[in-house]
This record gives sequence, structure tokens and C-alpha cells, in this order.
Amino acid sequence: MIVIMGGEKGGTGKTTLATNLAAMRVLRGRDVLLVDTDKQESSNYWAITRAQGEAASSRVVCAQKLGGSVLRLGTDPYKTYEDIIVDAGGRNSIELRATMTIADALFIPVQPSQFDLWTLARMNELVREARVVNPKLRAVVLINRASTNPGVSETADTVKILRDYPNLAFTGIIIRDRIAYRKAASLGLSVIELEPSDSKAIEEMHAFYREVYNDWKTFEKQPPRTQNE
Ligand SMILES: Nc1ncnc2c1ncn2[C@@H]1O[C@H](COP(=O)(O)OP(=O)(O)O)[C@@H](O)[C@H]1O
Ligand SMILES: [Mg+2]
Repeated sequence: MIVIMGGEKGGTGKTTLATNLAAMRVLRGRDVLLVDTDKQESSNYWAITRAQGEAASSRVVCAQKLGGSVLRLGTDPYKTYEDIIVDAGGRNSIELRATMTIADALFIPVQPSQFDLWTLARMNELVREARVVNPKLRAVVLINRASTNPGVSETADTVKILRDYPNLAFTGIIIRDRIAYRKAASLGLSVIELEPSDSKAIEEMHAFYREVYNDWKTFEKQPPRTQNE
């Protein structure tokens, strides 16, 4: 399965989500390839830090792919990876558009404080185009770096905003701004490996993991009820 953390805006959390997901998947015993399409190589740097540090019990294989070479991820030898997680950073990137034609899902982190309608309109259009050749592509917006001070109704606001963008779904995932994410990143870890642990960050990443892999058993939570229940 190929999943992308994408979006054309920088600093929204693509690398944070891609690296957390990759580590969690490896910890579940999966054969994982993390792909960095950003020239800044933050995911790659995270994987190197992880390999060199003492804190992580397992490595994450990371490869950098630039330009149209990302399309090779859908062919041998990459097909042998059970999970490919693409950190598609960069502005107006060819890598993002190319991987969208072969991926199973695209997750677009956005920050509630700077809901960028132009970006959402553009992503909505890119998803429409990608689905012409890749109809299976899921496209999900999630909120990252929301305030830990609730009071604002991010969920209702997001649902309202996304009504105008029919190709983008919102499943209610909200990740809040927590020091644990930054600390884990600097050590080459996921938040679920970080000591001392931040239980709220861990629960957020478990919820995100369940959403991405539709895996409701791994972290012992009941699946959401369907409308018929
Ligand atoms: N939920 C979060 N809480 C705290 N800091 C975060 C969170 N998500 C991202 N960050 C921090 O914000 C910065 C940008 O995030 P990053 O994942 O690198 O974004 P992108 O890859 O989209 O440019 C990084 O310093 C990262 O550690
Ligand atoms: Mg990045």
C-alpha cells in the first residue's frame, strides 16, 4: 500500500506524520519504505538520526526520490515493500502529482489557524485529475497543530469549509500542537517510542494510524459505528 503525506504548503506536518507512521508500521513488524521527495530531506535526516541513535529499537529504510522517478515505486523492486509512505514536500511538486497517480491514499495536513482555501482548492483539483488515471485514490484532510486549548470548534469549521471541495474528505482526525512531536523528531523517534511519554500524543498517532490503515485491531479501539448501527 502506498500512502502520501502531501500538500503544497510547507510546515503543515507532512514529515512529522510520515516519520511517525513509518516507525509505527515498522514496530508492527511490517516491511516499510519511507520515501522522501523533498529536497530538504527531512525524512531522510530523521531516518539517519534514528539509525545512529540509541533510543530506537529498529531502523526505518528511507530513500530519496525526485522528479518522475517516484513512479517507479509502483513497480519492482519497490513492490516487495508491504508499505510505502511518501513524504511529498515541496511546492507545486511534480513528485506529489506523480505519486498521486499510483498511491492508495493521500493525507493532507492543514493548520486550523491558517486554513488556506487556495491550497485546498488546488488540492481538490489535483485529486480530481489524479482520479482520472487512479480512481482508487483516497484523499483525506486532517488538522495538525491545533491548539491544545479547545474552545474553537475545529471539526465543525472544517466540515463547513470542505463542503466546497467534494474530492477531499475529513474524517475528524485532529492532532494538536505538542512538544512531544518536536522532541521525537529530533531523536529519530515516533511519539509512541518517546520517553517520558505523552499519552495524548500517543493516542493521536494511534487514531491517525487506524485511519490510514483502516486497522481497528492494532491499537485496541472499536471501529466507528456505521450509519446503520
Ligand atoms: N502536532 C505538532 N506539534 C508540535 N510541533 C509540530 C507538530 N507537527 C509538526 N510540528 C513541527 O512543525 C514543524 C514543521 O513540521 P513538518 O512535519 O516538518 O512539516 P512539513 O514536512 O509539512 O514541512 C517541525 O518543526 C515539526 O517538528
Ligand atoms: Mg517536510
